[in-house]
Amino acid sequence: MKTLRHLATLAGLLALALVLFGAPPALADTPGYDVNDCKTCHEAAFNQFKTTQHAAQGCNSCHGDVTEHVKGNLEKGEPGPIKKLGTLPAAEVDATCLTCHDSGKHENWKGGVHERRGVSCTSCHSVHSFKSPKGQLKTVSETENCSSCHQNIRAKLMRTSHHPVREGKMACSSCHDPHDGATPKMIKGNWINESCLTCHTEKRGPFLWEHAPVRENCALCHDPHGSNHDKLLVAKQPFLCQRCHLNTRHPGTLYDRGNSFAGPTVSPGAGNPIFSSRAAEHACKNCHQNVHGGNGPSGPYLGR
Ligand code: HEC
Ligand code: HEC
Ligand code: HEC
Ligand code: HEC
Ligand code: HEC
Ligand code: HEC
Ligand code: HEC
Ligand code: HEC
Ligand code: HEC
Ligand code: HEC
Repeated sequence: MKTLRHLATLAGLLALALVLFGAPPALADTPGYDVNDCKTCHEAAFNQFKTTQHAAQGCNSCHGDVTEHVKGNLEKGEPGPIKKLGTLPAAEVDATCLTCHDSGKHENWKGGVHERRGVSCTSCHSVHSFKSPKGQLKTVSETENCSSCHQNIRAKLMRTSHHPVREGKMACSSCHDPHDGATPKMIKGNWINESCLTCHTEKRGPFLWEHAPVRENCALCHDPHGSNHDKLLVAKQPFLCQRCHLNTRHPGTLYDRGNSFAGPTVSPGAGNPIFSSRAAEHACKNCHQNVHGGNGPSGPYLGR
């Protein structure tokens, strides 16, 4: 009883203070109760909340009807029911947030891999105590957030050739939209190449001589997350090319420079099978420089 009287006094003082100094800006009232009264019992949550982008949303917009909760507290000295978003099943948390965030890519949240696997809005976000400067994430950076679950991707980012994600110049969301269940692998854009080509525009073409796999899918040759081969390549040369061109009439192994687009050349080892100037097996690109397609006069063979 004593505590209740204390609370009543406190609430009175608070009301007086508010009259004297004015209510905090942009805070919305909660129907059935004055939002500032939540502060008497939830000071930390309240103070932090009023500085956030949700300040203008009433507590009830996420926590449901608060009148019973407050009445129980004041009359019986124990809290009445309230929606505890920290302990609700993922689907109910998501439904709460989606009452407002249902436009743009968020429309595609339902049915996406994250949703189906029980990853909820609050797996990544905290509207009360977030650590990121942008986007109200639970972690300081987005990469840290995604990597906390996707350890294998984090490991790939540590490889020698990688996109500058760990350097902080790019993020997972440069290529993925974690809310978008509509595209395969939640890729930004309608397909992989569209995403890659937003930055690597010089590979867009159209070229006079196209290389079919490049048009089809950049990931046939590149691992976007990282590789220990040069240039994010999924395999070492010439094995990369030989994944598809192994048994064509044009052998991938020893190939004489006499066959280059420039025609035969005289070289120191000419005539000697060991020292002859054969283009080493690593060297498909020595002759086929325009792997991504080109407009070279040498024709469809992707040379210059
Ligand atoms: C008289 C004190 C009092 C007032 C006023 C009060 N609460 Fe509470 N609230 C409590 C207590 C006590 C609990 C239970 C805490 C626990 O279970 O750890 C609680 C629990 C909660 C929870 C659940 C926390 C959790 O663990 O998930 C929420 C949300 C909440 N209150 C919101 C509000 C809101 C919004 C208001 C204002 C409309 C409000 N409270 C007013 C005392 C109060
Ligand atoms: C935009 C949705 C949203 C609004 C609006 C909101 N909350 Fe919450 N609240 C949450 C979520 C989600 C959690 C679960 C913990 C988390 O994710 O941060 C939570 C947890 C809490 C908790 C328990 C955990 C803690 O941080 O102590 C309290 C108390 C609370 N809210 C009070 C309030 C009060 C008071 C208001 C209004 C001033 C309010 N909330 C407005 C979404 C909201
Ligand atoms: C009552 C409506 C409402 C509800 C419910 C709601 N939000 Fe929001 N949210 C807003 C508004 C308004 C903004 C301000 C920015 C904007 O206009 O989108 C916002 C902004 C955000 C932002 C962006 C912050 C930034 O830095 O850009 C995030 C993240 C967010 N909300 C997450 C959530 C989560 C998670 C939930 C559920 C726990 C939730 N919201 C529930 C209305 C709501
Ligand atoms: C897997 C992690 C993850 C999940 C789950 C997630 N988000 Fe996000 N969200 C992010 C990241 C990352 C950003 C971008 C932050 C930035 O701008 O730097 C973001 C941005 C946002 C924004 C601001 C920009 C925008 O797209 O409008 C809102 C609002 C938002 N999320 C709401 C939600 C809601 C609602 C849910 C649940 C339906 C949700 N998020 C689930 C990671 C997540
Ligand atoms: C440069 C663009 C790019 C960046 C940056 C990127 N991804 Fe990806 N990610 C892709 C592409 C493209 C695929 C699809 C690969 C495929 O289908 O072969 C993919 C696939 C995935 C998959 C599905 C499993 C797999 O290995 O195919 C996960 C999980 C994933 N990415 C998580 C992440 C996380 C977490 C980050 C940040 C740490 C990240 N990605 C950064 C482009 C990117
Ligand atoms: C709370 C854990 C968690 C967090 C945090 C998380 N994810 Fe996931 N993610 C999952 C689970 C679980 C799956 C489904 C199983 C799998 O493929 O690993 C998944 C799948 C994916 C996929 C593959 C989709 C497909 O179609 O196969 C991508 C891409 C992805 N996440 C990107 C991200 C990005 C980007 C972030 C950060 C913004 C992120 N995830 C944060 C748990 C998480
Ligand atoms: C948001 C912009 C962006 C997107 C989207 C993007 N990249 Fe990149 N990419 C970069 C940047 C920045 C670098 C680093 C350039 C540098 O270091 O000079 C890079 C480097 C590369 C490299 C060279 C790596 C090396 O070790 O030199 C390859 C290969 C590459 N990207 C392929 C891809 C593929 C494939 C995709 C699509 C899955 C893609 N990129 C999507 C920005 C992007
Ligand atoms: C048939 C295999 C193959 C495909 C498919 C492919 N690449 Fe490449 N890519 C390579 C090879 C080989 C190199 C290394 C070239 C070198 O070392 O000079 C490379 C290098 C790169 C580089 C870094 C060097 C440079 O030329 O700028 C980028 C960026 C790149 N590729 C982007 C892409 C994009 C974007 C796509 C999809 C549109 C794509 N690649 C599809 C084989 C491929
Ligand atoms: C994922 C499979 C794949 C990989 C890997 C690949 N290619 Fe191709 N390449 C093709 C296909 C398919 C064609 C089109 C064949 C056709 O039109 O008959 C082609 C065509 C070519 C052509 C032109 C041939 C012609 O008749 O038009 C050259 C030259 C070529 N590739 C060189 C390379 C080189 C060099 C590499 C390694 C950097 C490479 N390819 C890697 C699938 C691949
Ligand atoms: C010494 C220069 C040279 C090297 C090295 C070279 N090529 Fe070629 N390639 C050519 C020339 C010239 C042609 C034009 C057609 C011809 O004369 O057979 C050609 C044609 C091709 C063709 C199209 C014709 C066919 O046979 O299908 C493919 C595919 C091809 N090369 C793949 C490769 C691959 C894969 C490698 C590396 C393992 C490679 N080339 C190494 C010069 C070279």
